Amino acid sequence: MTTPILMDVDTGIDDSLALLYLLANPEAEIVGITCTAGNVPARQVAINNLAWLDLCKAPEIEVALGSEVPVLAPLMTTEETHGPQGIGYAELPAPTRALSSRHAVEVWADAARSRPGEVVGLVTGPLTNLALALRIEPELPRLLKRLVIMGGAFNHPGNTTPTTEWNIAVDPESAKIVFDAFSGLPEDRRPIVCALDVTETIEMRPVHLSRLAETAGSTPVETVREEDADGQLSQTSNPIVRYLTDAVKFYLEFHVSHDQGFLAHMHDPFAAAIALHPELGTLRQATVDVELAGSLTRAQTVADWAGLWGREPNAAIVVDTDPAAFFDHLIELVGAFARKTYPPTS
Ligand code: RIB
Ligand code: CA
Repeated sequence: MTTPILMDVDTGIDDSLALLYLLANPEAEIVGITCTAGNVPARQVAINNLAWLDLCKAPEIEVALGSEVPVLAPLMTTEETHGPQGIGYAELPAPTRALSSRHAVEVWADAARSRPGEVVGLVTGPLTNLALALRIEPELPRLLKRLVIMGGAFNHPGNTTPTTEWNIAVDPESAKIVFDAFSGLPEDRRPIVCALDVTETIEMRPVHLSRLAETAGSTPVETVREEDADGQLSQTSNPIVRYLTDAVKFYLEFHVSHDQGFLAHMHDPFAAAIALHPELGTLRQATVDVELAGSLTRAQTVADWAGLWGREPNAAIVVDTDPAAFFDHLIELVGAFARKTYPPTS
């Protein structure tokens, strides 16, 4: 049994690893990739996904361009976090496969309508495309099997302002539209929210990249070091491992520059794993709403855990997980996939 997944992304270094994870996972059927502005402009996001699909010798998967701007907020991007093209130091070969002629919202609506109750929506970027898709298909919350969102911060500091997380901060109006529209669903259909509270426990370190190279049979098995020259590129033999290492190295350096250590928070691949196996996280029901007017707190996601607002819960928030088990799972799958795609030369 495979799970059909529609990915909506702002690729992005961790979005890239989420894509590799789903391509590597036989339980996942990627039914489409829709691109929104976020880490980098939407057109660059689309190029990144086409290029990764080419590199991974992936089957034809529709990649559609979505909104290039939030529904109201001025666009902000973060090349300082994800690199000038959004994939760190990686310079992937230019893609040969073509971008879909359809808009992302058409892809969302058709995917849900064509397979009612089957498709899991996974959003690892701002919620702009989904908010717009709800305008043409208000039944999306009931047509999707489940929605998984990487976004928000609840009992945890923000990464964009003191109280806000990037995906929500880019387009808070769209986030509110989505949480409001997905209210009223039964408990087992409520959006699963992977917020910073848990995704910042998913700390990728150099050793994880070394283990990935070993699993892939890539040589040499390198250890990315903090003292390496910025921009020093990987020489390991397996192209998927090599370009991923180049991407993640930029992210490791970003986290060091923000006093978080030589590590990389892998928010999006964790959300992708939850999309396939929600049991990987401990879920807690809450009513979530998004602050739009706060002068200091605009885009803050607020969770009412105790029903103080008198509103039914509309979200299942991941409150705990096992990061080590997640990385074992990720490395095993992506490493084997890299090895199968580019077998080691004897
Ligand atoms: O706040 C982290 C999230 O914002 C991740 O999805 C990252 O890729 C960026 O989109
Ligand atoms: Ca992302």
